[in-house]
Amino acid sequence: MSPIYLRGYPQKLYSCSVRLLTWEFLMKMKATLKYLAGIAGPSGYGSKSTAEQVTQDCLLSVPSPLTAIITGATSGIGAETAKVLAKRGVRIIIPARDLKKATKVKEIIQKECPNAEIILLEIDLSSFASIQRFCSEFLSLGMPLHILINNAGKYSQKLEFSEDKIEMSFATNYLGHFLLTEMLLGKMIETASDTGIQGRIVNVSSVIHNWVKRDNFCFNKMLNPKSYNGTLAYAQTKLANILHAKELSRQLEARKANVTINSVHPGIVKTGIIRDHKGFITDSLYFMASKLLKSTSQGAATTCYVALSGKVAEASGRYFADCNESHCSTLANDEIEARNLWNQTRALIHKQFVQP
Ligand SMILES: NC(=O)c1ccc[n+]([C@@H]2O[C@H](COP(=O)([O-])OP(=O)(O)OC[C@H]3O[C@@H](n4cnc5c(N)ncnc54)[C@H](OP(=O)(O)O)[C@@H]3O)[C@@H](O)[C@H]2O)c1
Repeated sequence: MSPIYLRGYPQKLYSCSVRLLTWEFLMKMKATLKYLAGIAGPSGYGSKSTAEQVTQDCLLSVPSPLTAIITGATSGIGAETAKVLAKRGVRIIIPARDLKKATKVKEIIQKECPNAEIILLEIDLSSFASIQRFCSEFLSLGMPLHILINNAGKYSQKLEFSEDKIEMSFATNYLGHFLLTEMLLGKMIETASDTGIQGRIVNVSSVIHNWVKRDNFCFNKMLNPKSYNGTLAYAQTKLANILHAKELSRQLEARKANVTINSVHPGIVKTGIIRDHKGFITDSLYFMASKLLKSTSQGAATTCYVALSGKVAEASGRYFADCNESHCSTLANDEIEARNLWNQTRALIHKQFVQP
């Protein structure tokens, strides 16, 4: 007899909980096996699909080239995303803090795809002033804007502050992309309305957002943490990316704008950001999880799928992994949390610009 039953649980409730736990365990096992085997989900793609495969049929019916801004395209998943979208005929804008690195990426892409149109502009996403400069420079080019991929990511092992005196990963991963999106949204709505082509924003988040509990998701503490844990700080920014997409998608729908915003988990890929997670525990975890690692091309697949595929035209405010809609945490689905975060962010940005 079970100890729980002995403590006075009615037998029916006990056997029901056991069945539920077994069911949950079996579902998790099924998902893991599906992931390892790369079995396709409802979209027809799965964990092993590459960015090239998922975009094979995209853009055939578009009359003029789309324009996409991809942040963090100087390495890793972002560079691969830029390459594959360029191959599909998309004009790529790479905002980069290191223009030499961006030039190398441009050369690599143009070697494979000589007709690719790639424009490099300077940005430091951890700086409000730099984002403003980038946006005015981009908007002065008079180009349309169909796709915005908020991909850049920073993991800070030690507590660092941006020039605006904000914790570095929160400033870069969340606030920087929030401001960038705000400043480019008008252009995206205008482009969608002029061309009749749906605008798409993709926030690159991570499954690690699941680690964040409600008690440690406090705006002021994220701006200026008293005690710092790099992995938690990073996870908080990834949760904020999803909440941003959820709230903005609600607002876009209310405005009847033909622009969607979704979040993605790209999968675990050994890129610069993972190399920054140094330490015995993380190294051991990555070693043990090496079977779960994706190639860069597989890592860019979900972003490219959500940015281009006709199959996701109806999706906004959703969360994708392995090129299929997936579940994010309860906290990430909390509409009130999303609205609060939005209001606090708007207030901060307003304060920053009114009293620089
Ligand atoms: N790799 C994974 O396993 C994994 C898993 C889940 C989610 N993600 C997410 O995927 C995205 C891409 O990461 P990745 O794995 O490809 O990492 P990565 O290779 O380290 O690339 C990060 C990119 O972000 C740029 N960046 C960082 N700080 C910036 C700043 N202040 N201003 C402008 N650009 C900045 C970097 O530019 P520099 O070249 O100048 O450094 C680089 O291009 C991130 O959002 C990350 O959180 C990755």
